[in-house]
Amino acid sequence: MVERDGVPGGSDNALARVIAMVNDKGGVGKTSIVANLAGQLAAADYRCLVIDLNRQANLADDLGYRDGDADDRGAGLVLSILTETPVVPVLRVRDGLDVVPGGARLADLVPLMVARMQERGREALDVLADVLAPTADPYDIVFIDCPPESPILTDLALTAARWVVMPTKSDVGGLVGMRLVAERFSLARERNPELRLLGAVLFGTGTRSRRVHAEVRGAVAGAFGGSSPMFATAIRHAERSAQDARRLGKLAHELELEVAAQPAWWASLRDGTATAPRVSPTAAGVAGDYRDLGVELLALLRDAEETVAVPAPRRNVEVV
Ligand SMILES: Nc1ncnc2c1ncn2[C@@H]1O[C@H](COP(=O)(O)OP(=O)(O)OP(=O)(O)O)[C@@H](O)[C@H]1O
Ligand SMILES: [Mg+2]
Repeated sequence: MVERDGVPGGSDNALARVIAMVNDKGGVGKTSIVANLAGQLAAADYRCLVIDLNRQANLADDLGYRDGDADDRGAGLVLSILTETPVVPVLRVRDGLDVVPGGARLADLVPLMVARMQERGREALDVLADVLAPTADPYDIVFIDCPPESPILTDLALTAARWVVMPTKSDVGGLVGMRLVAERFSLARERNPELRLLGAVLFGTGTRSRRVHAEVRGAVAGAFGGSSPMFATAIRHAERSAQDARRLGKLAHELELEVAAQPAWWASLRDGTATAPRVSPTAAGVAGDYRDLGVELLALLRDAEETVAVPAPRRNVEVV
């Protein structure tokens, strides 16, 4: 790991910079946040790896690699867990950004883990940490994009990660999902005591209201027994920009550049190209939110790494 912008480069523990993006509730921004944070950090020269644990693999849409040659739809990850051999990133989706794709082949993972747990108990959950450690070492930051409503895959991620980031919407569903995360989090800490909640992120919000922030903070505290770290940055609601992102396979900061480059609407009307789809100008604001979130994330990691004793390598993980 390297040192950049004053952020010390992790520790001897190859898993010290693994961040699980978790909420049991669907549609709260897990994948969007992983894709955009990893994309902007990679553009800023951090080496990033993303592990996709989702059968739907929306990450493939956000990063624009769905059905490409290297999109194995999760087969590599399943094989790695089955054979307990290091996970192999198969895609370089942007400079400095590699991905272990998810997809339909991950359907085999839950029955495999159920069988393993019947045999070995919760120790079986160490497998993702074990197959990820040798691969994670050269990366500055590793994100795990967790699926909704899958306790066993969430448990796998929480046993491999050092940090949890928990996106939520301010509605009741997101808050209930948060309580379920808190339960899995407590369980995971029995095997992985270094696991910490880095913070909750308010996603897709139309408001900067302090009251809404305070309510969500209260819900985090309720779920996590008084501890309520929360990112000051919220990701604004911008539906058109989100549609553009998935349709074009581009991240918010990439769309921001396209917005700046597209001709004024009146000019395209004059040239007869006004009917061509235009990229929503809201991308710039969304890109700014992700930029602020990334800055906060790096600062939190730096502070935490200064104050938390860096753990020794865990279990039988071989650190290269
Ligand atoms: N800033 C935004 N404002 C509004 N909607 C957004 C924004 N960014 C993304 N979306 C949309 O919100 C939906 C949910 O986002 P996303 O897929 O990131 O959530 P998720 O938590 O990963 O969902 P799942 O649990 O199903 O994997 C998607 O349709 C996405 O296009
Ligand atoms: Mg998702």
